[in-house]
Amino acid sequence: MLILGIESSCDETAAAVVRDGIEILSSVISSQIELHKPFGGVVPELAAREHLEKIDPMVDEALARANVSLAEIDAIAVTQGPGLIASLLVGVCYAKALAFGLDIPFVGVNHIEGHVYSIAFENPAVEYPAFALIVSGGHTNLFYIPEPGKYKVVSRTRDDAAGEAFDKVAKMLGLEYPGGPEIEKLAVEGDARKIKFPVAKISDGRPDFSFSGLKTAVSRYLRENEIAPTAKGESPSPEIKDIAASFQATVIKSLLGTTEKMAAEYHPKTLIVAGGVACNNALREAAATLGAKLNLPVYFPSKHLSTDNAAMIAAAGYFHLRRGERSDLRMTADVSMRLQNFENEDGELKRKKVRYRL
Ligand code: KG4
Ligand code: ZN
Repeated sequence: MLILGIESSCDETAAAVVRDGIEILSSVISSQIELHKPFGGVVPELAAREHLEKIDPMVDEALARANVSLAEIDAIAVTQGPGLIASLLVGVCYAKALAFGLDIPFVGVNHIEGHVYSIAFENPAVEYPAFALIVSGGHTNLFYIPEPGKYKVVSRTRDDAAGEAFDKVAKMLGLEYPGGPEIEKLAVEGDARKIKFPVAKISDGRPDFSFSGLKTAVSRYLRENEIAPTAKGESPSPEIKDIAASFQATVIKSLLGTTEKMAAEYHPKTLIVAGGVACNNALREAAATLGAKLNLPVYFPSKHLSTDNAAMIAAAGYFHLRRGERSDLRMTADVSMRLQNFENEDGELKRKKVRYRL
């Protein structure tokens, strides 16, 4: 089955052609990083306009690179949510119109489920139950997946996503957007044990993440020690490098500390680590070390599949289409789409609605 995947939830316009959910024939991405860089973050209105410009050329390019024609496409998978409303609508409307015109099925896919499926191309088949730690600019969740298609949020962030914390701290340090790769670069030269930043504990005892206190701790450290952000064109000071390294180590400790604790409770057979922050080598190494300690295989996507792309959307879409699930023309974008459909004995689903931000 040949699926055309379309992704436009945030600041990447992406299209891909994927065969049977596991073979990427093409995957093209038009990144808006340069467009948003002067603003230090994504500007939703600009993002949507850019998607509108790029979506048609991206789909054309994906088809051309895959060497297939539109007539050969069996179905379309498109990101339905969560994400920025105007950005999502571009992809959703495009996919619906195309599917209607071609008279083929289409399915709306949860972007976070897409990240879970980003490991499908390069790793062995997942053994269930699995854990998926999805860390990106918009979401930070640890999922328990008892079987394909069933998700329970074990831990989620109460405030900032991990990638968002990387981006905001990078801004404080005078680094460019997106901050994750910049902090990672500096951290290699810094001393991660130099500063003890706090790992947040949630007072109600839930195993959730929280990164806004850490961000405040970095800001306070800068102020109290009178450390100025790196000026444009200057190279970062040793203090800034130590802050980057110590901050990064604290984020990793928080992510993997919780994963280890919850693994003892849930006994997963696989750990999936995906999302933009999974590009981080220090996180990859620490997760691999944890996997070895727990005797738990750890699967990552390669880096170009960790950040937003449409191949992962096609892979997740394949899973649903194969089960006969499809969307109809009334389907529309869902800004705060949830990924939790597995109810355990204590009625976990009745909890307050989780809102995702991208
Ligand atoms: O998955 P993604 O492309 O978009 C969202 O769905 O949010 O993730 C982007 C996020 C940004 O916050 C970026 O700073 C972070 O991933 N990121 C990293 C690294 N590369 C990207 N964070 C830490 N280390 C990296 N190497
Ligand atoms: Zn994403």
